[in-house]
Amino acid sequence: MDDDSVRPTPRPTLAHPTLADGADMWRVARDSAVLDLNSVYAYLLWARDFSSTSLVARIDGRVCGFVSGYLRPDAPGTLMVWQIAVDAAARGTGLAGRLLDALADATSATTLETTITEANAASRRLFASFAERHGAELDVTELFTAAHFPADAPAEAELLHRISPLAR
Ligand SMILES: CC(C)(COP(=O)(O)OP(=O)(O)OC[C@H]1O[C@@H](n2cnc3c(N)ncnc32)[C@H](O)[C@@H]1OP(=O)(O)O)[C@@H](O)C(=O)NCCC(=O)NCCS
Repeated sequence: MDDDSVRPTPRPTLAHPTLADGADMWRVARDSAVLDLNSVYAYLLWARDFSSTSLVARIDGRVCGFVSGYLRPDAPGTLMVWQIAVDAAARGTGLAGRLLDALADATSATTLETTITEANAASRRLFASFAERHGAELDVTELFTAAHFPADAPAEAELLHRISPLAR
């Protein structure tokens, strides 16, 4: 039997992105077919300017997931998670949860926020599970309603999920 056929899938490594990762973050977002796909430029900008509040995951050197976030300028103790995605082949192994845990650890944030559509059960479970692991409250409120989106680019309401306090 070929040795490669029994080699276990290596545990993904996590790192803050560099400019060289921007295009891969865009690819993972595109392939998710769920996330709003922004321009490549936006991911390049993110990889340069918000690297310390973002992470990429790699298996065998290939990017297979990312989380992008920022500390809110008016509330720097709040980590806003903008996008998180894992390639289909790497899902269901706890990778997204690891990305969130590692990102929270990498910042001094005591609150984590994100927005999720009602229909995204995987994402709702991901963040609920994060709150449980951290012994934090999870509050869900309206943020971007359907009325905030223009008629020629309609979108589902995005509910704000606010998780606090994160122990420091
Ligand atoms: C959401 C996403 C990042 C989860 O990635 P993942 O690595 O498979 O997630 P994990 O393995 O860390 O699972 C986290 C939790 O979510 C649950 N979960 C994962 N996929 C699920 C699904 N399709 N339905 C319901 N629950 C799901 C897991 O069981 C786990 O729950 P637990 O902690 O109670 O065991 C991935 O499905 C994805 O990339 N989706 C497309 C992009 C997206 O929707 N991003 C979020 C936008 S807000």
